[in-house]
Amino acid sequence: MAKLSSLDDLLVHELQDIYNAEGQILKALPKMAKAATHPDLKAAFDEHRVQTEGQVRRLEQVFKLLGHPVKGKKCEGMAGLLDEGKKTMEQDADPAVLDAALIAAAQKVEHYEIASYGCLRTYAEMLGYTQAAQLLQQTLEEEEAADKKLTEIGESGVNQAASAAGVGADEEE
Ligand SMILES: [Fe+2]
Ligand SMILES: [Fe+2]
Repeated sequence: MAKLSSLDDLLVHELQDIYNAEGQILKALPKMAKAATHPDLKAAFDEHRVQTEGQVRRLEQVFKLLGHPVKGKKCEGMAGLLDEGKKTMEQDADPAVLDAALIAAAQKVEHYEIASYGCLRTYAEMLGYTQAAQLLQQTLEEEEAADKKLTEIGESGVNQAASAAGVGADEEE
């Protein structure tokens, strides 16, 4: 088992976790874009994929700044979140309801990332790795913006369309 005897160790451990998580997200985003119907949602997933590529490169820079090999470690948390999203996409869903479900799944992913990058940035700051902390802060801000954008897309009509779906289907009510 890997040693966790210092904040430095924890920083590297968490970096390896999020590096692997970002790789998983990169594979999932094109599938989510394909499954989405609303053009704004499709565009948001495409845009975030490009952004995620940059985040992966930023993490590689952080590894280098810390003098550690670029290495990932299977992130079970992200695997679980993405697996739930995949199961949702496999369901026979109304397109508007599926869009709402995709927003929920993506926001869960963003919140995981926000927690990770917030901790990483703080550890790097505390340990005096100023440049690494700045890079991690940049990604944190992108994840926060992505989360906010998803909320806006949901509120601007996707959730409403989802609530209209199925109306009239339960005629006995
Ligand atoms: Fe990310
Ligand atoms: Fe993200």
